[in-house]
Parts: sequence; C-alpha cells; structure tokens
Amino acid sequence: MPTVVLEQVSRHYCMGSVPVPALQDVSLSIAANCFTVLCGPSGSGKTTLLNLIAALDRPDHGSVTIAGQPLAALSDDALSDFRARHIGFIFQNFNLLPVLSARENIEYPLLLAGVSAPARRARCRELLAAVGLADKGGHLPGQLSGGQRQRVAIARALALRPPLVLADEPTANLDSQTGAAIIALMRQMQQEHAVSFVFSSHDAQLLAAADESVLICDGRIQGTQRACDGEAA
Ligand SMILES: Nc1ncnc2c1ncn2[C@@H]1O[C@H](COP(=O)(O)OP(=O)(O)OP(=O)(O)O)[C@@H](O)[C@H]1O
Ligand SMILES: [Mg+2]
Repeated sequence: MPTVVLEQVSRHYCMGSVPVPALQDVSLSIAANCFTVLCGPSGSGKTTLLNLIAALDRPDHGSVTIAGQPLAALSDDALSDFRARHIGFIFQNFNLLPVLSARENIEYPLLLAGVSAPARRARCRELLAAVGLADKGGHLPGQLSGGQRQRVAIARALALRPPLVLADEPTANLDSQTGAAIIALMRQMQQEHAVSFVFSSHDAQLLAAADESVLICDGRIQGTQRACDGEAA
C-alpha cells in the first residue's frame, strides 16, 4: 500500500477577492519506505503540497489518503490526532522549543501521546544516540549548532515511529557540508526506521540522494524521476 496518495488535488489562496491557484489537478502516489524529493521553482506549490500531505491544510477539490486513511473522512480534532501519530515534520528553521533541552524537545511528542516516563526516557536515549547527540541531551537549542538542531528535529520527528516524515527545505539554513551530513543522516534514518521521507528542496545534493524526485511547476506535476529505473514517468 502506498503511504501517500493524492487524487486530482487542487488548492487556491485568496488575495483579497482574487483567487490564486497554488495547486491544480495534482495526482501523486508515494510508496512506503521511499526517500522522495519535491522540487520546482520558488512559488511552484511545494509548501502548499507538503501542507496538504501533512494534514495541516485541506484541498479545495480532490482527495488525500495517508497510510490508507482518507483525510476528508476525519473531523478537525481527529485530523490533529491522526497527524500526531502518523506524520513527523522537520522544518527549515528547526522549530525547536527554545526553553526545552534537546532531550525534552524529542520527548515532547511522546509526552503528548501519553507514553510512560520509563518508555520516554528509553526512546529519547535511543534517538539521541541515533542522531549522534548522545552527549548533548541537556543542551538548549541555543547551545547547539544549526546542524545539531536539525539532528534534534529529525529525532523528534521520528519519536512516535510515524510511517511518514515530511520536511520543507530541511537543509536551506545549513552550509553545504552540514547539509550533506543531514541528508546522509535522514537517508540512514529513513532506511533504518523503514519510513517514507518526503522533502521539498532546491538542494542538488538532496535531489541526488533521492529514490524519487517529483518536479512541480506552476502548481502542476511535470514528471517523476525514479533513481532505481532512471526513467521519467
Ligand atoms: N497564504 C498565501 N496567500 C496567498 N497566496 C499564497 C499563500 N501561500 C502561498 N501562496 C501562493 O501560492 C503559490 C505556491 O506557493 P508555495 O509556498 O506553495 O510555493 P513553494 O514552491 O513552496 O515556493 P518556495 O520554493 O519559494 O518555498 C505561490 O504563487 C504563492 O505566491
Ligand atoms: Mg516553500
């Protein structure tokens, strides 16, 4: 079963009384356990598309199905609950809570989900080690480098073992060497945790690392390139 299925999805924004089409008739299927990048020029609709897949927004037309669940069938409350349990999100600007330590940031979604204190401690220890920050759990975000902050954000996104992790330009605020290390870590986490990762990026390093790249222009999908078969669909 694919992790993400979009069928004929459209979304527009309103600028005063003028409708601005952001996505038009987008159909897309993303396989389980796949490393997929959404690429396209600025304003092409990548963030709009990620927000729909993240269940942060609803389409005007068409359907979005994540891990077999059609999102249109869920109330707003049920949608928030579904998002918390099934989707991890990594932001361009890391979005860590500044007053919480690295460990507490990773623990936060576990706390909200009602995971017991011993299980939370064990999971945080495991994730801090997995992202190479075993000795930095007590540091506040302000005491970490950009790359280290993004490692914390990756660990937080994986905390509840979601089947899907999304990231909007996760390397845009990092230098190229740190960005390359973050890409390698995300790839490693995607394989070890058997999740689907979907990113938007302008970063050529990220495009090269992907199993699949989806090109978007003017709110429409122009093509999909799969690394395994090298063919454009
Ligand atoms: N809140 C909004 N109100 C009005 N128009 C919007 C809004 N958000 C996005 N748009 C418009 O929708 C289109 C798609 O925007 P989107 O942010 O999805 O593009 P993007 O591909 O993520 O761009 P970038 O690479 O610059 O992040 C653009 O034309 C943009 O101007
Ligand atoms: Mg964007």
